[in-house]
Amino acid sequence: MSDGRPVPTPALRSARWYGKDDRDGFIHRSWMKSDGYPDDLFAGRPMIGICSSASDLTPCNSHLDDLAEHVERGVWEAGGVPLVFPAMSLGETQMLPTAMLFRNLMSMAVEESIRGNPIDGVVLLGGCDKNTPAQLMGAASVDLPTIVLSGGPKLDGWYQGRAIGSGTDVWRLSEAMRAGDITREEFLAAESGMSRSKGFCNTMGTASTMACLVEAMGVTLPRNGDLPAADSRRAVLAHLTGRRIVEMVREDVRLSRVLGPAAFANAVRACAAIGGSTNAVVHLLAIAGRLGVDFTLDDWDRLGRGVPLLVDLMPAGRFLMEEFSRSGGMPAVLRELDDLIDGSAPTVSGRPLRDEYAAAMRHGDEVIRQRSAPLTPDAGLAVLRGNLAPDGAVIKPAAASAHLLRHEGRAVVFESIEDFKTRIDDPALEVDADSVLVLKGCGPRGYPGMPEVGNMPLPRRLLERGVTDMVRISDARMSGTAYGTVVLHVAPEAAIGGPLALVRSGDRIVLDVEGRELRLDVTDDELRRRRAAWSPPEPEYHRGYARLYIDHVLQADRGADLDFLVGAGGSEVRRESH
Ligand code: FES
Repeated sequence: MSDGRPVPTPALRSARWYGKDDRDGFIHRSWMKSDGYPDDLFAGRPMIGICSSASDLTPCNSHLDDLAEHVERGVWEAGGVPLVFPAMSLGETQMLPTAMLFRNLMSMAVEESIRGNPIDGVVLLGGCDKNTPAQLMGAASVDLPTIVLSGGPKLDGWYQGRAIGSGTDVWRLSEAMRAGDITREEFLAAESGMSRSKGFCNTMGTASTMACLVEAMGVTLPRNGDLPAADSRRAVLAHLTGRRIVEMVREDVRLSRVLGPAAFANAVRACAAIGGSTNAVVHLLAIAGRLGVDFTLDDWDRLGRGVPLLVDLMPAGRFLMEEFSRSGGMPAVLRELDDLIDGSAPTVSGRPLRDEYAAAMRHGDEVIRQRSAPLTPDAGLAVLRGNLAPDGAVIKPAAASAHLLRHEGRAVVFESIEDFKTRIDDPALEVDADSVLVLKGCGPRGYPGMPEVGNMPLPRRLLERGVTDMVRISDARMSGTAYGTVVLHVAPEAAIGGPLALVRSGDRIVLDVEGRELRLDVTDDELRRRRAAWSPPEPEYHRGYARLYIDHVLQADRGADLDFLVGAGGSEVRRESH
């Protein structure tokens, strides 16, 4: 909002298309008039793109068309012209081999769709895991006035009188089905009970994490992180978002003005406090890379230290997003964190972040804890280094077993996820509870696309003996709905010859989370011999986008963006031909 002084309205970018009385102007206007637009809509009214990732193939986003209509109402009301456009959609539960492979492709589609069209400001309408980062990455490379609006989480899942969380309870129920503990009918009933409404996963998985973090970064209006998809207040939020983006165009509040270093620092701390997904690491690094913000993997460790876990949500905790919303949502969390975050950080509302949460109420003490009674006093992610991960690896100590945070064990190595699936329950596999499961070939380039398989299931025979956690190490990611003592994002990855490629079954591995170390206890001479005998695996793809991805993807410590997408191209398009 303005402070009362008149704000000089910048020249509209869309005037480049619509402000000319020549052949080009005729063409740009006339074809739009086929939709029934009168002349005056092209005379100085902000054109607002609504970048929607609605798709029947992305069930978490299937309601976004409805939400877009509410954004449109707000845009019209504020004097703008809403223009809904698609830019790919990534359904986490549907896309193979993994939706992450296509995050960068979607970011390209978003970037080029915004830049190439007569758009003055943009609302990014997303939800399911990869859509929010993909849209923000693309928009960041153009840098127009931008607001994110998330689709919101599903209502809490219920089955046989108990809350069940998207993803988190899938493993338990599928194991129960395999063991014959529940019938097929019960299994199907649980599926239905888990997904009671439209919206994204109702746990603090990656989608909820990203929806909350973009709120903490100031790039949404308040309550974006928590209001359920089915809550009419989500529609109100959409309406207000439509109004505000028009004002932002008039005030020329570009994305880069909101997403500075303070926004990223606030996001890291907020992520610790909500027990957010490790996937946020690669996504925020990639977004920062587009904006040229100096934000590195080590900042995740440095900034997250000493931040308490305040939110008791699955996968690690007890409750689901509907309860989180009832308890006050992100504004309540941010208010508890007040002295740990930069409340002066700018937001899309035009007010500093502190103004957005200063009056927030926390309802009850269970779902969102008081600062003085946290679930864990130190919930930040840890970045490990050592000869096994020279460029870093990530672990979420708050989701790990305390007794494994310092551990030495014998490596049991799997060369690929298929190798893992084939052998993990082989009675001949030499494995015990102290072993360290090592998975290769699941990094950005190796898989390709860095799938969420890092939380490898434990060997059945150990599960039957009551073992509930083991140290697991890989170059993969982990679902935001999973947990365990899982070391992820090892860089460099095995497929490009990182030290992970050289680990053999029987090697000793030392994990020391307190000391931030991940060490392979093998001599340098032996590692040199192994390296000399190592050859890179044959790429999985030889054509198309996947080939482009393999050739250009950066490692996890750089956010797994494509090397030629880092940075911004701006919004200018110099040439035009009809
Ligand atoms: Fe879409 Fe979880 S599968 S948010």
